[in-house]
Amino acid sequence: MTLSFERHRRLRSHAGLRDLVRESHVRVTDFIYPLFVTHEQGRHPISSMPGVDHLDLDELRRETHALSELGIPAMMIFGIPAMKDELSSEAYADEGIVQQAVRAVKSENPRMLVSTDVCLCQYNPAGHCGIIRGDQIVNDESLELIAATALSHVQAGADVVAPSDMMDGRIAAIRSALDGAGHVHTPILSYAVKYASAFYGPFREAAHSAPAFGDRRTYQMDPANVREALREARSDVAEGADMLMVKPALAYMDVIRAVKEEFDLPLAAYNVSGEYAMVKAAAERGWIDERAIVMELLTGLKRAGADVLITYFAKDAARYLRESV
Ligand code: PBG
Repeated sequence: MTLSFERHRRLRSHAGLRDLVRESHVRVTDFIYPLFVTHEQGRHPISSMPGVDHLDLDELRRETHALSELGIPAMMIFGIPAMKDELSSEAYADEGIVQQAVRAVKSENPRMLVSTDVCLCQYNPAGHCGIIRGDQIVNDESLELIAATALSHVQAGADVVAPSDMMDGRIAAIRSALDGAGHVHTPILSYAVKYASAFYGPFREAAHSAPAFGDRRTYQMDPANVREALREARSDVAEGADMLMVKPALAYMDVIRAVKEEFDLPLAAYNVSGEYAMVKAAAERGWIDERAIVMELLTGLKRAGADVLITYFAKDAARYLRESV
């Protein structure tokens, strides 16, 4: 009997061959590591995100050093303010927690790429990403505060600003504020495609930013939609975004692929807190092989089309990558 078929296994027969023909690679230079900075002294674990801590400025400096040692080139700073008020004042205060954090990192290591999350939800009692009038999150009035927040981050020394508020027009507002102040070279990484997702649960505990009423579905996207993702991204490109993001990542790999195919800007995937917590919880119980799962997930995001990986696994993965060479 002569059978005709292809020998796909030939290229899998040797580790060196598998390395040669591998199509997607996770590199330590792909990572942006998210950090939570507080006014509270010291380092305090975040219970739903094992391995991730709240940091004060000294601990942040230490963490900056640890990231550089691991070869991680970039971080994303989230701030937890001392006080919340209606105008989200600490979001754009010169001595706000993020502004202080940016200066601390830059004085510790000027080469660290510092990006900041630009949003209001941690900074006002309602826990919403824009200004509240009655039970509405008003769009246009929010833009001024969001742009002021981005500008104050850049004035503190941030290299990249990443607005996550999902108000319409925010990229235009931020670009205009930055350009008006002479920061024409500072890029905007837009959370262009951000879904109203239950996967942010642990983050909201970490950032004390759960909405006090309602939910975020009038501004964040419906998880069922992918064509809408292209409309969101298109507006942000037109308004001047330099990089795009899809968030969350794992349940949205088709969206990553769709955005990648449609636009030629660099694309980030945000592997969010709930995605991290699920892996950590299963690994703690001994149900999964954490290392293998983490690398498979991150590789999957690269394969789907992400250029940049924003992930709480960055430090773990940097160690795995180092050990595997
Ligand atoms: C703030 C913001 C959120 C996240 C990043 N920026 C929470 C939210 O929109 O509710 C989530 C990050 C994560 O879950 O890891 N708007």
